[in-house]
Amino acid sequence: MTSILFDEQLNRYATKMSTDELPILTALERETYRKEMQPVMLSGHLQGSLLQLLSKMLRPSRILDIGTFTGYSAICLAQGLDDYGLVHTIELEEERKDIAQKYFEDSGYSGQIIAHYGDASIILKELKEPWDLVFIDADKPNYGLYYDLVFEHLKIGGIIVADNVLFEGRVLLPEEEQGKNEKAMHQFNQKIKSDNRVEVLVLPIRDGISVIRKIVL
Ligand SMILES: C[S@@+](CC[C@H](N)C(=O)[O-])C[C@H]1O[C@@H](n2cnc3c(N)ncnc32)[C@H](O)[C@@H]1O
Repeated sequence: MTSILFDEQLNRYATKMSTDELPILTALERETYRKEMQPVMLSGHLQGSLLQLLSKMLRPSRILDIGTFTGYSAICLAQGLDDYGLVHTIELEEERKDIAQKYFEDSGYSGQIIAHYGDASIILKELKEPWDLVFIDADKPNYGLYYDLVFEHLKIGGIIVADNVLFEGRVLLPEEEQGKNEKAMHQFNQKIKSDNRVEVLVLPIRDGISVIRKIVL
């Protein structure tokens, strides 16, 4: 997705002045644009770089990626894994498996990325790992549910990153003019803001990215 909230020229400048995208991620993005109906769902260079940086700073051993799509975010998140670390990534649509798997193999992380296919709200009831880093990037109305399902397993100091929290700026609309996605994102933002177990920073880049840090149980 190109940035809607951020001037396009500045977005290009910020991208150009940031560390270059890994060639494998450029190839994955190209293939996604050739084969997928909604390629803009892919995280892309700037957001992917933020995920990589956070992961490298945390050196996580357990990462959760909700909404694999073609695998871009999972590969970015894997960059900071410790030697025995794992990324669990969840995707509803099994037809996206081949492209994701191909790039997991090409990335060299296929042994550390575990792909689950099915509904995240069901899979997360079984997946109880001590998460260091979680990326929520799937169906918007379920963000609050995913947050609740992962929170008790998130370590103190662990980070949840949530995408699309400003939903094209539409979170600002009066409630009666909001669709279900922007309404859900506004409710999610309110829920996090009033949760005194965490600290949160809402970054107005791309479609809005929240970085949430667990400070108490
Ligand atoms: C915005 S895309 C994810 C993009 C990906 N994180 C990336 O960086 O390229 C959202 C994905 O969530 C998946 N999804 C939607 N609802 C889901 C659910 N209930 N459980 C698991 N995945 C779901 C969609 O099929 C879609 O592939």
